[in-house]
Amino acid sequence: MNMPHRTMRRVEEAEALDGYAKPLAKVAQRAVRPRIVRNLLSGAKVGHPLHPPLTDVPIGAWSMSALLDLMGGRESEPAADLLVKVGLVTALPTALSGFNDWSDTLGADRRVGLVHAAANSAALSLYAASAVARARGRRGKGKALGFAGLGLMAVGGYLGGHLSFANGVNVNRTAWEHEPEEWTPVLAEGELADGEHRTAEADGVDVLLYRKGATIYAMAATCSHMGGPLGEGSVEDDCVTCPWHGSIFRFADGGIERGPASSPQPHYETRIQGGRIEVRLAPPELSAEQGEQGTRRGHRRPLARTPAS
Ligand code: FES
Repeated sequence: MNMPHRTMRRVEEAEALDGYAKPLAKVAQRAVRPRIVRNLLSGAKVGHPLHPPLTDVPIGAWSMSALLDLMGGRESEPAADLLVKVGLVTALPTALSGFNDWSDTLGADRRVGLVHAAANSAALSLYAASAVARARGRRGKGKALGFAGLGLMAVGGYLGGHLSFANGVNVNRTAWEHEPEEWTPVLAEGELADGEHRTAEADGVDVLLYRKGATIYAMAATCSHMGGPLGEGSVEDDCVTCPWHGSIFRFADGGIERGPASSPQPHYETRIQGGRIEVRLAPPELSAEQGEQGTRRGHRRPLARTPAS
């Protein structure tokens, strides 16, 4: 194991951080509970988590200000100062979206996220002090504070990258499912009563079925957000609520009514054949949400729902 991995392992196992993380997570969970806040900060209506692209703006602005401070000369001082301010302004929505994502983490991910937030908050403070020093004409001090902020921002970025790419936080948990593209039997027709929802298996993939009168709906049973079991969720108004963090998905097309999920659920066509319920991945062109976002994988089929007969 190399040094960065050893360091990350230490952070992940630092249970002492839980004393700070737990109460802060409770505050975060309360703050993001309103649906409008959740949808906005999660990227539920964008189709991707909001936090990663937002981070590009302050990281880019502060990196370029450092470059101008180092190599730009006197004529680029106003541009360097402006970039410091751009980073400060855009850091706020970036931090709020990260706070939202962090509120759903637990254990090792929550500890790493806490250190990630601390490093970025310290970087933000240093850049705020740098902006003040620049405004007062103390350019040398402003530059030094900026370089220190850049270092801490790099640490925060590394930790954020670890959460996403090593630990898979906020990665679409259905991305690697191989949904059956051909009609596949999942249950006997009589095994799904009117108003009932239950999980069945189609070629090794868990599928959530819901019967409403003559219509049977089907979508992936694994929540795209963090893998919650939708079969254990509650059903209301033709939607299912994930039991883990409360994402709400429409049965009609797998679309998101409420975050924190930002990727819609894969959904299936259904039919009754020989007394058995069969499913196959629905084609994307009939799904408004996936149509807008493009298909996530080229082989996905379009939405349809077939009345049971
Ligand atoms: S796992 Fe988080 S909302 Fe489903």
